Amino acid sequence: MLIKRPSDIKASEITPEGLYLNRREFIRASSGAAVGVAFAGLGAASLAAPAPAFAQEPLGDVKKGPFGTDEKLTPYDDVTTYNNFYEFGTDKSDPSRYAGRLQTKPWTVKIDGLCDKPADYHLEDLLKGQALEERIYRLRCVEAWSMVIPWVGFPLANVINRAQPTSQAKFVAFTTLYRPSQMPGQRYPALDWPYVEGLRMDEALHPLTILAVGLYGKTLPNQDGAPIRLVVPWKYGFKSIKSIVRISFVDRQPPTAWNKENSHEYGFYSNVNPEVDHPRWSQARERRIGEFFRRKTLMFNGYGDQVAKLYEGMDLRKYY
Ligand code: MTE
Repeated sequence: MLIKRPSDIKASEITPEGLYLNRREFIRASSGAAVGVAFAGLGAASLAAPAPAFAQEPLGDVKKGPFGTDEKLTPYDDVTTYNNFYEFGTDKSDPSRYAGRLQTKPWTVKIDGLCDKPADYHLEDLLKGQALEERIYRLRCVEAWSMVIPWVGFPLANVINRAQPTSQAKFVAFTTLYRPSQMPGQRYPALDWPYVEGLRMDEALHPLTILAVGLYGKTLPNQDGAPIRLVVPWKYGFKSIKSIVRISFVDRQPPTAWNKENSHEYGFYSNVNPEVDHPRWSQARERRIGEFFRRKTLMFNGYGDQVAKLYEGMDLRKYY
């Protein structure tokens, strides 16, 4: 898995045989069903042609939200071409190449589990009455790179409060769309599909935690998790699950995609922590995409003032 390494080691050098998604095979698979007859009979170069990207729509009335950083923004081109979204392949460039065919309209989000107001929402209804905010957050990937992104979204707490979870609800579980016909990476066992994630209830209700529907003032590009994704800025990027179709209230810690894949390397909490190394590399420093020199990684990705109290008394080496 590429996620199990810092960005400067070649995947082919460390990925176990059999798990590495053979690039040519992947291109063949994604062109086979998604591109279909259009590419039949064309040469290999054409098979690697990017899927047409839909133009992003402006999001209109977006207010500046709290907790923003004034650090230099990562250029839009990097934010939209250097992605982890294994449903479209394991290479950083795969999502922008292959996600264009994902249909995100109509989109339904199921809200269920231990709550008084479960519902299946059309995305438009879920967004009704939500004041959209721009939140400029750092995203720190477990692979030791980071970006600064102007997200557009609203607090996840708004959705939780509307659903009225019962007192038994202790965690929130999230699920990504499973649609191999449009997500060619799901035809390979790179992960146990669908991608799932979870937060403890207090983390989910924290005002820093948002559901994002856009970036740079426009709707999310597919490769960044359209039409709706989670953003939890004090945790490693893999907690920020993309293209969400289900949000469930549960009483036990829910399974998460990377913890299922390798529980020794990826814990449930996954708070950014420069003092706890990944078993195979240091987390003390990171490469900001677009910069040459590495910088120090900050505890809780620099959001400690806001979130450290959530973990008071917890051994963060044990609960990594
Ligand atoms: N969500 C899904 N469904 N599938 C994925 O592969 N990758 C995660 C996260 N969310 C992933 C996902 C990882 S490892 C990271 S670092 C971030 O998305 C990357 O988000 P970005 O591509 O918008 O930078």
